Amino acid sequence: MTTSSADISPNYQEYLRRLPKVELHCHVEGTLRPATVVELATKHGVALPTTDVDEVYRYSTIYEFLEIYQRVNSTVIDREDFARIAYETLEDGVKLGNLKYREMFFNPTLHTARGIPMATVIDGLIDGSKAAEHDFGVRCAFIADVYRQDPPEVARQMVEEVLAHRRPELIGLGMDAAEAPDPPEKFVEAYRVAKAAGLRLTSHCAEDGPASNVTTCLDLLGCQRLDHGYHILEDPAVVARCRDEGISFTVCPTSTAVVYGWPDLTTHPITKMIDAGLQVMLNSDDPTMFHTDIGTEYVRFCGQNNYSPALVRRLVLQGVEASWLADVEKATMRRAFEAEIDKLDRELLG
Ligand code: HPA
Ligand code: ZN
Repeated sequence: MTTSSADISPNYQEYLRRLPKVELHCHVEGTLRPATVVELATKHGVALPTTDVDEVYRYSTIYEFLEIYQRVNSTVIDREDFARIAYETLEDGVKLGNLKYREMFFNPTLHTARGIPMATVIDGLIDGSKAAEHDFGVRCAFIADVYRQDPPEVARQMVEEVLAHRRPELIGLGMDAAEAPDPPEKFVEAYRVAKAAGLRLTSHCAEDGPASNVTTCLDLLGCQRLDHGYHILEDPAVVARCRDEGISFTVCPTSTAVVYGWPDLTTHPITKMIDAGLQVMLNSDDPTMFHTDIGTEYVRFCGQNNYSPALVRRLVLQGVEASWLADVEKATMRRAFEAEIDKLDRELLG
């Protein structure tokens, strides 16, 4: 993959990195700092295939990725461990990309299946996010994700258990892991239970599955926004529908460049989704696992595509729009973002 943005000025690189940001597609299990993985493995006596921090994250398919995702997360055990990983990734988001607000995914069954109580997971993550909010001003809410390779009954039970430990910070249900073998209709029951309880709904889809998965997620599962969505481009009628309905897509340049083979970001499907008038906003997905961060996603993707400040501002504000904050909070955040971007315009683009 082309990773440099040497063709844009240092000022514009700094501008892209320092823009205030919302992130709606980031899996806490994909954010562990390699050094933290090694420390937690030592703390709990968990064997890793390598303790070389540079070698922990290496793969080239979604299947290899998911295997390592599971393995590194087997080191996260205590409530303090969950708090630590939430805190560290929010710190990274702030320091590397001026992150202001994140709705962060977690995979409950990845942890409960290895005997960790649901309360340990949820309470630990919220502890860490509160500490990060205190120290850095960044805010965070959580979305529980169905792991697609789980049986439907396990996913439905997961939702019920999450609801039994409901906290105000837990706002939604999502779905991830490998899409091709396990289509969204498999989880209609889990989504029904979540919807009835008032959780917001999203799902990874048309990531490595067909455009019809977009329609299934909207009509059968009741999703209010969608994650990835690239294969929508194969069906112009679904594109037109999503454009007309203003459906938001949370897209991820680097992770998909690596595991789905779109190494040139100037021809990545995201560019075509933007050209088609779809509402997209940028995200880091699994930042440490893909050797990226939210600031770098903006620098790489917007830099390599020579996107104008006006277009970049639109992408940033689309993050606020697509969030599940209350309308009044969105309005406040939008005003704060506009003011901060105006200031950056004067300082760096003058
Ligand atoms: N896709 C599928 N599964 C995942 C992802 C993703 O983007 N991130 C973490 N698990
Ligand atoms: Zn994802």
